Amino acid sequence: MINSERRDVLLQGRPSIDYAGEPSLGSVYGEEEIEAAILSIRHAAHPERGFRISGSEGELFEADIADYVGVQHAITINSAGVGLDMAMMSLDLEPGDEVICPSINFKAAPMAIIGQGGTWVPCEVDPKTLQADPADVERRITERTRAILTVHMNGLSSPMDELLEIAQRRPHPIHGPLKVIGDAARAAGGAYKGQPIGAKGWMTIFSFHTQKNMTTLGEGGAITTDDDLLAQRLIKLRFFGGSDGWGSSYPMTSVQAAVGRVQLRKLDGFIDARRRVAEARTAMLRDIPELTVPYEPPDCRHSYYLYTMLVKREWAGEMRNRLCAMLRELHHVNTIIANPPVHSAVPFLQRHVGDLHLPISEDIGARLFCPPMHPAMSEEDNRYICAAIWDVVERLRAEEA
Ligand SMILES: Cc1ncc(COP(=O)(O)O)c(C=O)c1O
Repeated sequence: MINSERRDVLLQGRPSIDYAGEPSLGSVYGEEEIEAAILSIRHAAHPERGFRISGSEGELFEADIADYVGVQHAITINSAGVGLDMAMMSLDLEPGDEVICPSINFKAAPMAIIGQGGTWVPCEVDPKTLQADPADVERRITERTRAILTVHMNGLSSPMDELLEIAQRRPHPIHGPLKVIGDAARAAGGAYKGQPIGAKGWMTIFSFHTQKNMTTLGEGGAITTDDDLLAQRLIKLRFFGGSDGWGSSYPMTSVQAAVGRVQLRKLDGFIDARRRVAEARTAMLRDIPELTVPYEPPDCRHSYYLYTMLVKREWAGEMRNRLCAMLRELHHVNTIIANPPVHSAVPFLQRHVGDLHLPISEDIGARLFCPPMHPAMSEEDNRYICAAIWDVVERLRAEEA
């Protein structure tokens, strides 16, 4: 962006919407969602029906998700956090069993491992993609490793084929090939090697929380799998264990499912819109030498849940924090640091792993920041955010000189 153009954009004033770094509503709601909710409530308002998902839109929503992802089963649940717990329950972990999971992550997946009595083994990410680094995952496998719980971080796919190959080649001595489980809370609508995220691995957990790529009235989620036995077990876990096991109560309601069906039909459009914002932004920011724009591997379709940037190494930590503060103070542009490595950023998790050093994750954590991303963001608002970033970088550059 040349200087005069940037000044003109900034003079036009701040965007009409004060987007958070991770906006409170990640998708777009319209009359169709409202009508679907009203219809569904009307349908439920009868003593013979109610809000259960069985025999209602709930079953259709599950069929729609399975069809969209291209798997045999989709099981809806009331959050991805619960889905991660269910995934760990399905492993029947014994004390000392280990699950490898990246530290550049939201804390939900490590929490789920620990919650089921497992040992969380944090791994490094590839600094270019911010996804689990297969070579580092392999280095951390021991006789106690049961699973690789990878995250499709910030909307890009994890390197599933590499992880699945390692899982086959380095089996557990009793349980066989390691289970590869995907946390796709932030990645609905993304793709890997021509297939939607959620098609590969033992199971994949999606979130339909209010901030996510699609939402079922603010909370919700789903698990996809091709494993028939696992699907049966998950269905039992979701409602008090069926007739022969432990379980609890994790379902979503029929109204959430009815709205979810509408959102799922729009999901590809939301991702196209996010991608348009991301591509325009990358064109405006890629020439700033102090910053790195997000990388999309050629075999992936990034869903751009977040637009993750890095500052150069010399600007790690304090300077990155100043950049974010100046964006807010001078130009009202918010950012989010998503996410610093949780093995050191979350005290509970730090106590679990003890004195662990992950140099790559710690470096990335001190350099990353995410300017706002939203499928309904206008070209003007996106240009304003880019102009603000150019402006602040130039101010910091001048200070440095
Ligand atoms: C990567 C990741 N995993 C899991 C979760 C948990 O999702 P939910 O809010 O549906 O429990 C989130 C939510 O922010 C997330 O970002």
